[in-house]
Amino acid sequence: MKLDRRDLFAKLGGVAAVAAMTHEARADALEHYMMLAAAGPTGSVGSSPASMPASMAADKKPFPTVAEIEAQIETSPKRKGVGNLFTARQGNVKRLPPLPAKPTLIDYFKLRFTNTANHCLQSANRAMKTGMSEEVVLACLLHDTVQELIKVDHGYWGAQMYEPYVSPQVSFAIRYHQALRFYEDKEHGYEYPDLYRRMFGIDYKPEPYIEQAYKDALNHKWYMTSRLICVNDLYSFDPNVQVTLEEFEDVLGRNFRQPAEGLGFDNSPVAHMWRTLMWPTRFL
Ligand SMILES: [Fe+2]
Ligand SMILES: [Fe+2]
Repeated sequence: MKLDRRDLFAKLGGVAAVAAMTHEARADALEHYMMLAAAGPTGSVGSSPASMPASMAADKKPFPTVAEIEAQIETSPKRKGVGNLFTARQGNVKRLPPLPAKPTLIDYFKLRFTNTANHCLQSANRAMKTGMSEEVVLACLLHDTVQELIKVDHGYWGAQMYEPYVSPQVSFAIRYHQALRFYEDKEHGYEYPDLYRRMFGIDYKPEPYIEQAYKDALNHKWYMTSRLICVNDLYSFDPNVQVTLEEFEDVLGRNFRQPAEGLGFDNSPVAHMWRTLMWPTRFL
C-alpha cells in the first residue's frame, strides 16, 4: 500500500494542523490513516502493527529510539494498550448495537470486532487461498480480535479467550504469535516489519519472557502454525480485498465449539471476557 501524503495531510486538516500535532498524535494519525486505507470502503479496519507494509521506512524519517517513545507517554490521554472498544480513534465513542441473547462468534465478529475483523478476515483468506491447514486458517481468523478488548500482550489474552472453544494447536498459535512477530524467519517468509522499528523504537529488545517464548516455540511441533499467522499478517492490509465471514462458516463449524448458552453465558473461565466485549460501557 502506498502512502498518499497529500491526502493524509488534507484529512488531518492541512500542513499547519499537522505541524501543531505532537509526535505521538502524528504517529497515531498515520497509523489510523493506513488502517482505514487498508480497510477499504466498508470502513472495517485492521489493527495489528505487524501488518503494516515494510515500505513505511520510505518516508525517510529516522526511526525513534525506545527512550523517545517512552518520553511520549505523558503526551497522550490514553495508554497505548487500551482496547479498541474503549476509546474512539476520533471524536467520541459510538453507541453499540445489542448482541442477541445467545451470541455466537459470528455475532461478535459483526457487532463488536469492527476494528479488527477486516484484517483478520484477510489474513484467514490468504491462509485459505494458499492451501494452509484449517488450524492456520482459524488461528488467522481469530488472532487479533481480542485487541477490541485490550492490546497489550494480545497474543496471550487472545489465546486465553479462545482456549475453551478451539483446539490446543489454534490457541498455541495465537499465543505465540505475540513473540514470533518480533523475530525474523526469512526462510518461511517473515521479515521484521519496519513499523515495529517505528512503534517500539529502533533499539527495542523484547522482554526476556518474550525471548524465552520465542525459543520455546521454535522447538515446538506447532511452531509453523503460529509462524504462519505472522506471515499472513504481513499481507493482510489490502484495501482491494474484501472478505466475508460466510467464507469461513465451514471452518468454524468444524473447528469452533460454539457454546449453546452463547459466548459470555456458558460459565467458562473466560465468559467474563466475552461479557466485557458485549457491554464495555458498564463501568464497574
Ligand atoms: Fe495481525
Ligand atoms: Fe497480532
